[in-house]
Amino acid sequence: MAFEYILSTTFYGSFVTLLAFGVINFFSYSIHYLSNISKQMIFREDGYLFAWLASLWVGGVPLLCYSIFIYMAVYLWTRRKKGMPVYPKNFVLFGFQATIMVILFYTTKDFILFSLFTGLFLSIMLSLFFAQVITIISLHFLFDVPWEEEGWREKIIELVWIDAFSLFLFLLMNQFLPTIESHVNMQLVSQTCLMIFVIFRYASRMNSISQKQQMVETMKELQDLNNKLSMANNHVLTAFAASLEKRDSYTAGHSERVAKYAAQIALGLGMAPKQQRLIHLGGLLHDIGKIGIPDNVLNKQGPLTEEEYSVMKQHPLIGEELIKGVYQNYPLLNEDEKATIIDIILYHHERPDGKGYPKGLSEEQIPIWSKIMAVADSFDAMTSTRSYRKAMTNEQAINVLIQGSGTQFWKPAVDAFINIKAGG
Ligand SMILES: [Fe+2]
Repeated sequence: MAFEYILSTTFYGSFVTLLAFGVINFFSYSIHYLSNISKQMIFREDGYLFAWLASLWVGGVPLLCYSIFIYMAVYLWTRRKKGMPVYPKNFVLFGFQATIMVILFYTTKDFILFSLFTGLFLSIMLSLFFAQVITIISLHFLFDVPWEEEGWREKIIELVWIDAFSLFLFLLMNQFLPTIESHVNMQLVSQTCLMIFVIFRYASRMNSISQKQQMVETMKELQDLNNKLSMANNHVLTAFAASLEKRDSYTAGHSERVAKYAAQIALGLGMAPKQQRLIHLGGLLHDIGKIGIPDNVLNKQGPLTEEEYSVMKQHPLIGEELIKGVYQNYPLLNEDEKATIIDIILYHHERPDGKGYPKGLSEEQIPIWSKIMAVADSFDAMTSTRSYRKAMTNEQAINVLIQGSGTQFWKPAVDAFINIKAGG
């Protein structure tokens, strides 16, 4: 067999073999490491399986041990250098993989002697296939990787085929070495060719991984772009809300002030800064549904008739509909945050006594941020001049809040707001 031949041959042949497998295993680890970066953790490009099987065939168990030694040395050195943890479980995995290879190598050896081409190929396929199966089983039990990962069967078949075919060519070349036994130089050239072949094979795999990384980067860029678009979307929405106010000059700046008051109440109630910012955004958007209210109702000089009022009462529902559409693909807010904004838009006219609209919810049913918004909204409405009435003073408006505290307005929000106004 070729491997017996190579081990017993000249120093040059052995030296080049050792050098070749040293380099191959070194690259195997770099590839493995790159794969981790690109989050292909489940199917790490197990380049070392190829390198180990090749060394088993070329130099038997001693060369396999040498390959494993080099691979682990690079693994430990790189991990330590980068300050990354070393997982002892990985060594258990390596042990399983090497064992299955040795078992399959020795059980299929006789068959290969019987039929070189098919036997060799079958042996390689079996070894790589079972090494991959062992990898999956070990990943599940050692690293808690779930069984059902999308496309894993296809991935195994792809890996096994590519590796098996490369290895087959490699070993077939090696099989012919004994025929050129007398030519030491030829042997040296042949070993060098093999090394170049294997390095070339790894270079192509590196290339495929760098393509994958590029894909990951492109995805990231797309995500960034999507975020920017959403941000623009957000600006368009708040601009919409502001333009609404231009339809009625009396309500100019209303949303900004309501947003500011609501965020202050949230602060007064001890809510987190993130919640305060969210409530501020909700304040800017709370009346967005007025886009759908006709001008003759929205801008009517004087009090609304019952019919007009019922049209006006639709604005929380219109706003909810509108914002739900915008939020369908909106990565800047998570689902909870989106729900908060929707709550604010939909329920900012609800009252603790159940007499609000559009749903007539009870105090417990109305979300806190909606109850905060109602106080902020009412205060600003009372202290702004309207076409049909003059603005109240701050004191008058606060008196109305106090009178309605617990019925029209949520008491904790009124108390917090009075504290803020008292503090200046
Ligand atoms: Fe409103």
